Amino acid sequence: MVMTMKLPGYHEDPAKLHVNTLPPRAYYLPYATEAQALAAAHENANRLMLSGDWQFSYYPSPDDIPEDAAQPCAVLPGEKTLPVPSVWQMHGYDFHQYTNIKYPIPFDPPYVPSQNPCGLYRRCFTLARAHMGNKLYLNFEGVDSCFYLYLNGQFVGYSQVSHSSSEFDVTGFAQEGKNHIAVLVLKWCDGTYLEDQDKLRMSGIFRDVYLLVRPEGHVCDFTVRTPLTGGNAAVEVLFADEPPKDCTAVLLAPDGAQLARAENAGQGCRFAVENPALWNAETPVLYTLLLHCAGEVIAQRVGLRQVAIQDGVLTLNGSPILIHGVNRHDSDPVTGYTISRGQAMLDLTLMKRHNINAIRTSHYPNAPWFPQLCDELGFYVMAESDLESHGETTIYGGNTDAFGTFARDARFEEAIVDRVQRNVLRDKNCPSILFWSLGNESGYGPALEKAACWAKSCDPTRLLHYEGAVYESGGHKNDTSMLDVYSRMYASVQQIDDYFAQPGPHKPFFLCEFIHAMGNGPGDCEDYYALTRRHPGFCGGFVWEWCDHAVADGRAPDGRVRYLYGGDFGEFPHDGNFCMDGLVYPDRRPHTGLLEFKNVYRPLRLTGYNAENGLAAFASGMDFTSTAGNLALAYTLLAEGQVLDEGTLYPDIPPRGTGEVAIPLPPLPAHGTAILQFTQQTARETPCLPMGYPLGQDQVLLQEAPCAACLVPGRVQTAESETEIVLTGEDFRYTFSKRSGVFTHLVKNNRSFLAAPMQYNLWRAPTDNDRYVRTQWEEAGYNRAQTRVYTVRCQADDTGTQIACTLALAAVYRQRIISIEALWKVDAAGTICLRLNGKRNTEMPFLPRFGLRLFLPKELDNARYFGYGPTESYCDKHQATQLGWYESPVRLLHEDYAAPQENGSHWGCRRVALEGAEGGRLLALGSMPFSFSASVYTQEELCKKAHHFELCESPYTVLCLDTAQSGVGSAACGPALSPEYQLCAESFDFELFLELH
Ligand code: GAL
Ligand code: MG
Repeated sequence: MVMTMKLPGYHEDPAKLHVNTLPPRAYYLPYATEAQALAAAHENANRLMLSGDWQFSYYPSPDDIPEDAAQPCAVLPGEKTLPVPSVWQMHGYDFHQYTNIKYPIPFDPPYVPSQNPCGLYRRCFTLARAHMGNKLYLNFEGVDSCFYLYLNGQFVGYSQVSHSSSEFDVTGFAQEGKNHIAVLVLKWCDGTYLEDQDKLRMSGIFRDVYLLVRPEGHVCDFTVRTPLTGGNAAVEVLFADEPPKDCTAVLLAPDGAQLARAENAGQGCRFAVENPALWNAETPVLYTLLLHCAGEVIAQRVGLRQVAIQDGVLTLNGSPILIHGVNRHDSDPVTGYTISRGQAMLDLTLMKRHNINAIRTSHYPNAPWFPQLCDELGFYVMAESDLESHGETTIYGGNTDAFGTFARDARFEEAIVDRVQRNVLRDKNCPSILFWSLGNESGYGPALEKAACWAKSCDPTRLLHYEGAVYESGGHKNDTSMLDVYSRMYASVQQIDDYFAQPGPHKPFFLCEFIHAMGNGPGDCEDYYALTRRHPGFCGGFVWEWCDHAVADGRAPDGRVRYLYGGDFGEFPHDGNFCMDGLVYPDRRPHTGLLEFKNVYRPLRLTGYNAENGLAAFASGMDFTSTAGNLALAYTLLAEGQVLDEGTLYPDIPPRGTGEVAIPLPPLPAHGTAILQFTQQTARETPCLPMGYPLGQDQVLLQEAPCAACLVPGRVQTAESETEIVLTGEDFRYTFSKRSGVFTHLVKNNRSFLAAPMQYNLWRAPTDNDRYVRTQWEEAGYNRAQTRVYTVRCQADDTGTQIACTLALAAVYRQRIISIEALWKVDAAGTICLRLNGKRNTEMPFLPRFGLRLFLPKELDNARYFGYGPTESYCDKHQATQLGWYESPVRLLHEDYAAPQENGSHWGCRRVALEGAEGGRLLALGSMPFSFSASVYTQEELCKKAHHFELCESPYTVLCLDTAQSGVGSAACGPALSPEYQLCAESFDFELFLELH
């Protein structure tokens, strides 16, 4: 009989959450000297880093672990090395799984499968004589999902709550010289039921491990408060439990000058601060508190600030603030949950560069140093506890009424409260944290109410948030009195208007998640911004979400990184690409949705322009900073794409105020389109923003040239058969099909412009946001519509030849989708004019798009257009783009979503030309603005392939000329596409000219 390792079974016992751990405390690192503490160079802290390579053995179940595995002398066959921190799935062990709501294990709390994958981590470390006599505290900043700890072969303790710190006093277990540590990490535990966040499920020691070496009598825990009253501020320091002896507290000004000093501060102290410089996300001024105690120095950054609700409005330091934030997961396609400071800095820098001012740490605490970066760089943080039990709703017979199953289960009450406490106690000294969030999607019930009461009484200086309390279930009557804001996710614009239309008083309305950024979207960014102008009690919210989650799996032959998502690992259950819903690609390249967000939340907005006197009015969206010295306004006057004039102005507009700027423009040319463009940019350097960095843009269309081709009168030779009409001119020969109602061949100057027949087109490769309406579209047969032509009348005269057709589009076994009257005209020079009226069957759903599709020879691979660019634009997603003259290779017009879908359209176009390097140019002009897309891929290909790296190019340049295309919205998780962005008109007209050169 093989003997296997015996475990005490704590991982299936919700009454045993932490065994032999120290009570949770504020995060800090002790240093030997003041200079080191101030430099906050964490590598110099008084600690022994234990991150690095460990020996690692993976077992499919704890039953497979040899009995003596935790013993220093154990020889474990097959033991390898694994870096700590990391997750083992990223190193080839176990498998990846992406599940959103459904639990990855049977729902049988508190039990978990006995086939519970586990990893045994082992390493040695050396303690010098000088270390001995100190207290030795072993710290784990994040282990998923739970672990048993052994030192020198002895069992030390157990802990769980993946994203929280666990600290063990190992003084009595350690010895001078060589020490051996073993950590057994299990993939599942009873905590798994409370960690059902929507993410790839990964395991292991994914954050740092270190041993703090601390003298007797050191500071344990302390709390900093910064009350503001009138114009006065104070810094208060409180110590928990035992007051430290010989403690000196020093307060330094932001410039480092000593402001105050208190000897014997062990009982707590209070410093009054004169002329306080207050902290906010725009100017994150930090004071520093130094605690000298027992030979250690601890530096704590202090931000003087006060968050409150005043008359139903969210305020900071007495001024209203707007939250334009993101939900951020710890996620990386290579390192998974393990995020270095460098990776975090990249995220934060990108956020600053895209006008993001807030972060919700969805749905668990980030690394303990993460909120400190937010203190320094200036972000408002909603710090969320490691809690989500969403899967309770997907059990058999479960539904929304099963929400709160754990919150109502007395066995899990302590576990739920513990999760909230660990979050609050660790990060309570971070000024950037304005809100505590109890967790996500765990329903509501006594346990959460208890946790909420605890959080409010422990920290009355911050606001408390929890969205799940809006649902009542299981017969429980919710007490939401502890919650400071009314929080919702994905509420529609209408629902928010309705909330404020009800008689007050209202708690502020908060969107903890909105404008779901999956795939091509979000299309409703500007509409939610408009709400913030209507309702002072609407605080704004956090976009779902910051980054796409994926696993990078090498490169495809064409060099593209292969991003894998749910279902690509053969796992069950999975939620497909629902994890690819961020504002940035997995590697942090911005999605066009991020650019959209950036411009919607630009610091300055043009609110009016008076062409008579050249005065431009701007409104500031900054809450604390005036534009003077911070922002410059560059302007450019463009006429037909040529720069006529430019300059830079330095306006002085107060925070939340308005101002006028005089733009000294020269007279405009008599004809042609003229556009005045403004780019606002930084006027000084800050940690994340270089000088001159663009933060937003506005434009004014000063003058517009009509867009139509001039038709040349003259006869066109016209030959008609039963099925075709052939039109011949001096240098062209066109063939029109009487069966399909479009041209099948266009030859001009001996060059063929159609590599395949034209088509009427109403389909698009569904976007992620089309996932629900797609079913209706397919039901109506939009993806398989056929053309039926009823009548064709051809008439040649001195002005050219006209072909009038009546036709319709319909799919097999379905009725007509759209009835069309099309009038095609060809003039003596070969210019084609199409006038079309479409009558939509209003019993059917709105259309994805409507227009013509042309398959051009591949050589026509460069596009020039006048429309909204340079990035993709749609009727509801064009804030990041500007009307202008653009040029791009067709290949680069494709936006490479990891799950292929409709992309790269340009809205509001007046003209587009496709041209080849060897000559040949097809120019389309619209008398009314239209949308076009030119792609190396067909919509069928984009529709068929699940991954971007599987896409095969079409042998043609595919050009879609759409009278209109429906918007993209954010319906993947948000409200359905608003009717104003649906192509749902009953009748619509289209006039288009095609010139071939
Ligand atoms: C929300 C949830 C998020 C995420 C999102 C869908 O309901 O809170 O964690 O799952 O939906 O992407
Ligand atoms: Mg969820």
